[in-house]
Amino acid sequence: MAILDVLMRYLHILSAVLAVGGAFFLAVLLPGSLRLIDDVARRDEVLLKVRRAYKMTVHPAILGLLVSGAYNTVRLWPTYKLNPARNHGLWGPHLLLGLLAIGISLWLLAGRTLRANHRTWLKANVGLMFVVILLASALRWVRLNTVAEAHAKETAGLRSQIDQLNAAAGAAAAPVSPTAIPAPLTAPAVPVVPTLVVPSTQPAGAP
Ligand code: HEM
Repeated sequence: MAILDVLMRYLHILSAVLAVGGAFFLAVLLPGSLRLIDDVARRDEVLLKVRRAYKMTVHPAILGLLVSGAYNTVRLWPTYKLNPARNHGLWGPHLLLGLLAIGISLWLLAGRTLRANHRTWLKANVGLMFVVILLASALRWVRLNTVAEAHAKETAGLRSQIDQLNAAAGAAAAPVSPTAIPAPLTAPAVPVVPTLVVPSTQPAGAP
């Protein structure tokens, strides 16, 4: 169904934007501003508050990624099968690394306190998610290219069939050699006058 296809694609992209964008903000953008807070306890308090808000965002986003990702997979599977080596070679890593990134996010956000080296983990996970998006971009290009190639192949097959039919039809309609045309039934140039044969009245032997 077209509407559901569009909605699921939208859900997948929206969920990815929220999950990756939020992680990027926590890992890269926020720390610089947090350093403006001199009180370390207060700084950690702010960080935990932001982390909690991110957690409330990323949990629904993960659900969105899983539901829409499964839907997209089922819908696109017949297309992937047109060229399994190329499509599955990208779909598999996208799925596995995506699940790994989701696992790391859940592990990092579990509990009320920060993990040791949480920022390093967060940065690594952002890098991983960038790779996941790169794989998705490549997969989309390869999939669309696979469809285009299949169409081109089909069109070429149809074209050659049409050419064969045209050739056969053309041969039947081709002008026949003049020698093969029977002569037209025209009137002879010199009219044939019936000759009246008059029996001779002279006796045989007369001069
Ligand atoms: C961190 C997790 C993930 C991220 C950031 C992510 C991101 C993306 C992005 C940006 C796209 C491109 C959307 C488009 O152009 O239509 C995409 C496509 C896709 N994703 Fe994910 N994804 C993740 C996890 C998953 C999971 C867990 C699954 C499977 C259950 C999945 C299955 C798919 C499929 C099938 C496509 C369509 C690719 C195509 O156009 O052929 N993704 N993903």
